[in-house]
Amino acid sequence: KQKQDLVGKHILVTAGPTVEALDPMRYLTNHSSGKMGYAIAEVAARRGAKVTLISGPTQLACPIGVKRIAIQSAKEMYEAVLEAFETSDIVIKAAAVADYRPATLNTHKIKKTGDDLTLTLVRNPDILKALGQNKGGRILVGFAAETQNIEEYAKQKIKNKNLDFIVANSLITEGAGFGGDTNIATIIDRLGEVEHLEKMSKTALAQHILDKVVTFLK
Ligand code: PMT
Repeated sequence: KQKQDLVGKHILVTAGPTVEALDPMRYLTNHSSGKMGYAIAEVAARRGAKVTLISGPTQLACPIGVKRIAIQSAKEMYEAVLEAFETSDIVIKAAAVADYRPATLNTHKIKKTGDDLTLTLVRNPDILKALGQNKGGRILVGFAAETQNIEEYAKQKIKNKNLDFIVANSLITEGAGFGGDTNIATIIDRLGEVEHLEKMSKTALAQHILDKVVTFLK
C-alpha cells in the first residue's frame, strides 16, 4: 500500500520541453518527453499531496488527481510557475527549459532567399534561479541534465539556484535521460551528500526523490 506521507503538502512539478516559436510554422525545442516529471507528479498525488503540474507539450495523459497547466514557451512556464509557487511547499523542476529564444517572433513565415540565414537568440529567464531567490521555507529540487562533468556542474547549480538537492542525469548514457522509461541519476544535496543510484524506472526514481524530499521536511 502506498504511504501517505505528503498529505497537506502542495507540490509544484514542471515537466516536458518548452517550445520557442520562430514564425507561425517553425519552433525550437528539445527531446524531453515529460515522462520524468509526470512520474513525479503521479507518485506525489498517490502519496497524498496536492499536485500542480506545469507542462510543456507532451503525448502523456494527465495523472489522476493532478492539476495540469499546459504551457508552450519558457516565458509562459515562468509566469505559470511564479503564480503556483505562492502556495506551494515543495517545487521539483524536471522540465527541460530552453535557455534561449529567438530574438524576434515573426508574424509571417520566414521566406527563403539565396543567402544563409542567421538567427539571433536571446536569454530566457532562469526560472529555478528566480525561485531560489524567493525560497522562503520551501523545499526546492532541481534537475541537471549534462553530457559531461555531471557532479561538478550539479554542485554549481545547487549553489547558484539555492536548491535543497539536485537530481543529475546524463543525456548520453544508455537507459538515462530523455524519452525512455528508465533513468540513472545521482542525487546531490546542499549538505554535500552524494548518492549514486542504479538504473531504475522513472516511477521508482520518483519515489526515491520524494523520499528524499520527506527527509528535508523533517
Ligand atoms: O522528459 P523526459 O523525456 O522523461 O526526460 C527527463 C529529463 C532528462 C528532461 C529530466 O530528467 C531532466 O534532466 N530535466 C532537466 C533538464 C534541464 O533543462 O536541465 P538543465 O541542466 O539545463 O537545467 C537545470 C535546472 O534548471 C532544471 O531543473 C531546469 O528545469 C531549470 N531551468 C533551466 C533553464 C531555465 N531557463 N529555467 C530553469 O528553471
